[in-house]
Amino acid sequence: MNEERTSTGLFRTKAIEDTIQDTTAPERRHLKRELSALDLTVYGIGVVIGTGIFVLTGTAAKQYAGPAVALSFAAAGVVCALAALCYAEFASTVPVAGSAYTFSYAALGELPAWLIGWDLMLELALAAAVVAVGWSGYIQTLLADVDIHLPASIGGGTDGHWGLNLPAAALVVVMTGLLVLGVKQSARFTAVIVAVKVAVVLLVIGAGLFFVKSANYRPFIPRATGAATGSESGAAQPLIQHLGFTPGAFGVMGVFTAAAVVFFAFIGFDIVATAAEEVKKPQRDLPRGILASLAICTALYVAVALVVTGMQKYTALSEKAPLADAFRSVGAHWLSGFISAGAVAGLTSVTLILLMGQSRVFFAMSRDGLLPKGFSRVHPRFGTPSRATIALGAVVACFAAVIPLKALAELVNIGTLAAFAVVSLGVIILRHTRPDLPRSFRTPGVPYVPIAAILASLWLMLNLPVETWIRFGLWMAAGLVVYFGYGRRRAVRFERR
Ligand code: ALA
Repeated sequence: MNEERTSTGLFRTKAIEDTIQDTTAPERRHLKRELSALDLTVYGIGVVIGTGIFVLTGTAAKQYAGPAVALSFAAAGVVCALAALCYAEFASTVPVAGSAYTFSYAALGELPAWLIGWDLMLELALAAAVVAVGWSGYIQTLLADVDIHLPASIGGGTDGHWGLNLPAAALVVVMTGLLVLGVKQSARFTAVIVAVKVAVVLLVIGAGLFFVKSANYRPFIPRATGAATGSESGAAQPLIQHLGFTPGAFGVMGVFTAAAVVFFAFIGFDIVATAAEEVKKPQRDLPRGILASLAICTALYVAVALVVTGMQKYTALSEKAPLADAFRSVGAHWLSGFISAGAVAGLTSVTLILLMGQSRVFFAMSRDGLLPKGFSRVHPRFGTPSRATIALGAVVACFAAVIPLKALAELVNIGTLAAFAVVSLGVIILRHTRPDLPRSFRTPGVPYVPIAAILASLWLMLNLPVETWIRFGLWMAAGLVVYFGYGRRRAVRFERR
């Protein structure tokens, strides 16, 4: 009997052998292995490029970093790359659905795994709703261009007036249907969307270069000011200000404050790891898929940030549609329509893949007994976790329809960064507890790279507002209540073999 299986209590880990055996068990509990490294890279780009680059570039440049927002993207990219090296080792050692949740179960134990699974809902389900709401805004802008106007009561309301957001809910329902039909179908759909999205981003870079004025780059790092434009006192300020650091608007500190905001643009590369069970050669293809999509996106983001802040003075950037608006500001109106269409396509695939990632985490948690068993049933014909997908789609559609989620978007960042830190810690621990495991990808420089990933993630977390920390604490406390009320009693005890 493995050492892990004999330990008891909250920190009982799940042996890697059990984890992998679950995926090949003869009952209905395994998913179809259909994806290649290229499919994964496409998935990665499909989920990563979205609201972050199309919307947050404007906010971050205008409020925190100026043209140096390009450096913020690079800094956030470095944090993600450090974490990606850790995700890649885990994904190649434990090529099983569930990503950070599964990794934590193997390295840290049942309670930490539950908390990370709970935490991942912030990253995946909440982000899917946030992005669907953003999509709804863009599609309505495009419809308005052809003079179709949705009534505010079903279009998400207007400033100060609440309204149902039916387009956002409809998007979630359609994407859920696609996911039930099968991952390969979703991968083909994603490939088309990703091609459109990348083409639009390249168009922004290529066409935008002609409109860049060097004067707009001066000063590249604007001088630090007392506080961020529009930033209120108290709970809305970054936690780090309360720890005695200077406020993070502009200057070098501003570059990091902006990095914590644009971090949202990178969220999703780790979701590639949640598809581990559906990959043909996971040990080889997972690390490739994760690192390739991250590298491509970082390069595109830095280039877009440089071009957009070169086209328009950072103080004049739009906070709603900065890319399209920069082209409007130089008189290229027809290009701005193209860019809005690209944003719509882009946000569609982001929503799809966030939903896919979350359904796979539910699937893995249900298989371990931490969530109801029905969620780990696989559809006999489609080979997908249809129940988990439909239940999730229903909840996210309701959220997207009724809740103005803007304020909650930062929760997505803090939840993801917490998962990064735990996964990185897990790599160090698993090297000690299971040095014998075959690792086709080994994180270089252990323990230094994982420690750097932990510190870098914590640093970005500190740059998030106090109110975000409070919401995060409340959510995790609710997770503890659910665990002790349900999961702890029902968790599968790994003693089958
Ligand atoms: N990275 C994704 C986006 O920017 C979540 O929308």
